This record gives sequence, C-alpha cells and structure tokens, in this order.
Amino acid sequence: MVKRAIGSQSAKQDGASNPIAVLVIHGPNLNLLGERELEVYGRTRLGDIDKELKELGRELEMKVETFQSNSEGAIVDRIQKARGKTDVLLLNPGAYTHTSVAIRDAILAVDIPVIEVHLSNVYRREAFRHHSTIADVAHGRIMGFGAESYSLALRAARTLVESARKRSD
Ligand code: DQA
Repeated sequence: MVKRAIGSQSAKQDGASNPIAVLVIHGPNLNLLGERELEVYGRTRLGDIDKELKELGRELEMKVETFQSNSEGAIVDRIQKARGKTDVLLLNPGAYTHTSVAIRDAILAVDIPVIEVHLSNVYRREAFRHHSTIADVAHGRIMGFGAESYSLALRAARTLVESARKRSD
C-alpha cells in the first residue's frame, strides 16, 4: 500500500483562493483520437476533450492543464515536473499502461495521487490489455465511457482533493 499526501502541496491554503491543480496526461496515439479505431475510441478529438475538461474545470473551480506525448520519457519528465505544483493527475498512459515500469516509478517518485483513465473498457478487449503497471499505485481507475471517462475522472479528482483538504484543516 502506497501512502499519499493527497492535496498536500496546497492543502494549507484556503480552498477558494487555491483552485485544485489538475494535470491531464494523454499517452501515445491519443493525439489521433477521432481518426483512429473509431469503433473503439469514438469520434471525439483530443482537442475537444481537452477543451471540455478546461471548461468543466472552470465550472468546478479547478485549474486544468493538459499534455500529450507519444514518448515514454517525455511522460516521465512531465510527471516529475508536476511535483509540488499539481494536486492530482489524470493519466491515460495509452499502450504504456500495459508495459511501463518507468511511468509507474515516476508516479511513486512524485507522490501525487493518480486517477487512471481509459476511453475503452480494457477488460472487454485483448488479454494483454488487462494488465496495468500503474493500477495498484493509482488512487482509482475510470474506463469504458469514451471521452466521458475524463470528465467523470475530473469530478472524482475534485472530491478526492477536497476531502483531503478538509481532513487536513
Ligand atoms: C487506452 C487503452 C489502451 O489499451 C490503448 O493502448 C490505448 C488507449 C484507452 O484509453 O482505452 O491507446 O488507454
């Protein structure tokens, strides 16, 4: 069991003047959403998902930043950069979900709570997609709702950080 100080980077300040900082990371091939395997991932483009998350973030008083990379190292770098600046990560590592020890280690190194997000329900797909290297170091997982998986995750992230802030008051 990995112990996490949820929301701790900014937990000591007042909630209203201290919006929850969320970083959304999209892994490889997610830049091709809306063009790629439409029957699995749907028609929504990544730019639309990011725009909607930012709008929802404004509604929920959360500061949403987004990042996409096809490269494992760049994802590790971005997770490291988030240390001390981000309350919660929404992470869809794409195919790296199933293979990356480096992304798992980065999550453990920065001690930021992670919500693992997938558009598809990986358990309804090939067996090699059933394993996730990050599932047991994530706070939770949301999958199978297409683009809506991200907005569900953003709402869950808010509850998670707010509860942690209340506990530390
Ligand atoms: C995915 C599922 C992965 O298995 C796949 O490699 C992806 C997308 C999803 O969001 O459903 O690229 O992470």
